Amino acid sequence: MDPLNQDRLRLIKWPWLLALLALLALGVALTLANGWQAHAREWLNLVVRWLHIIYGIAWIGASFYFIFLENALERHGVRAELSGNLWAIHGGGIYYLEKYKTAPAQLPKHLHWFKWDAYLTWVTGFLLLVIVYYADPRAILLPPQSPLPGWAAVAIAVASLPAAWLVYVALSSTKLLYRPALFLLVGGMLVALAAYLLGQVFSGRGVFMHIGAMLGTIMAANVFFVIIPSQKKLVRAAQKGEALDPEFVAWVQLRSRHNNYLTLPVLFTMIAHHFPFTYNHGANWLILILLFVAGVAVRHFINVTEKEHKRTLVEGGAMPYLLVGAAALVLVAFYLTAPRTSTAQADSPVPFAEVEGIIRQHCHMCHAARPTQPGFASAPAGVMFDTPEQIVAQAGKIKQTAVDTTYMPLLLPGVPPLTQEQRARLGAWVAQGARGP
Ligand code: HEC
Repeated sequence: MDPLNQDRLRLIKWPWLLALLALLALGVALTLANGWQAHAREWLNLVVRWLHIIYGIAWIGASFYFIFLENALERHGVRAELSGNLWAIHGGGIYYLEKYKTAPAQLPKHLHWFKWDAYLTWVTGFLLLVIVYYADPRAILLPPQSPLPGWAAVAIAVASLPAAWLVYVALSSTKLLYRPALFLLVGGMLVALAAYLLGQVFSGRGVFMHIGAMLGTIMAANVFFVIIPSQKKLVRAAQKGEALDPEFVAWVQLRSRHNNYLTLPVLFTMIAHHFPFTYNHGANWLILILLFVAGVAVRHFINVTEKEHKRTLVEGGAMPYLLVGAAALVLVAFYLTAPRTSTAQADSPVPFAEVEGIIRQHCHMCHAARPTQPGFASAPAGVMFDTPEQIVAQAGKIKQTAVDTTYMPLLLPGVPPLTQEQRARLGAWVAQGARGP
């Protein structure tokens, strides 16, 4: 069998089975449910997000595993054709693995490739962008009252992905590629600039998600355009008994390293939508870049300590400083996002009726067991404000989403915006003990 053409499609089979089952369930749900468009979108979101996480974990997990192998190889006392070997125990079995400097004299019958998990992470990620952001750009992608037409927002968003790849390719074709620290600095500044520029057009959440999608596109395209083609070159050369140009190999390894350093930042953007306090901040581009620097620092720390696996952390020299540095950056971000308490909290007592009035008028159309807002089939995030008890019980969350940040209300057509004063009154009510009727 040709080792070039052995895609085992390991990861494709069973998640698609899951997807089919979910689609079947969707069909049943659609026939039973009212408000089916909203329902259909929620189900699609669920299925595609699930797949995205499955492929993403498979991709990043394999990436972490192979970087660990490379770092931890025992390089002394091995056969001349090897660059190292490694013993490991997992799941009740002991494994022994050898890495060749180039390729074995005889290629094996089965050579496992790792690429579909990367491609499908990107494909499902793009589908999620369509389902969550582009299908209704007014809902989350654009900030409230943006003058930009929806189609223009979608066009900018979609164009940002290939643009990121092109800028990255241009940067990688300069001498900077061979000076990693400088590359990181320039790359980091470009990411901050992109976040700042996108922030002129998109909502905070839209910015974070698109920066993540841009970096994810760079990673997936690195696999598609650089890493897999060069592996095919390697196998072809081995079949002919030729060696690859070491300069070419070094170039590919650098490009693959970039992916390694991008993993932790991109993972943050994948979970960022849970953290409005980071992306709804005026200086959200700064917070994002600080968290990215922390992620890259931690990734570097892991790479170096894996290499020095025989030493203790203290002997490892400068490494603990890196962790301290990462912690410091998170602290700065923490300081930036700390809620500024408004003086209005000391204001006159806020009766519950006033709070209930605000919630009825600005939140209840969505946050109800049966929402009246078009497009909503059930209470978003499970948050309901149908009774005074429910409102009181969720005072903390109301403060977090409508006072400390301006995440809520989500401003769709028909939802009146909340004034600064109303937000302050809600905050004062919570500060006064969030009393019920
Ligand atoms: C147009 C519909 C809409 C309106 C109006 C609305 N929300 Fe929401 N709310 C949502 C959606 C959608 C989510 C889920 C967002 C997500 O998953 O990020 C949500 C989530 C929440 C959450 C959960 C956040 C979390 O991360 O757990 C809270 C709390 C909340 N809203 C409070 C409010 C309050 C308070 C108001 C009124 C001031 C309000 N919402 C108005 C649509 C709305």
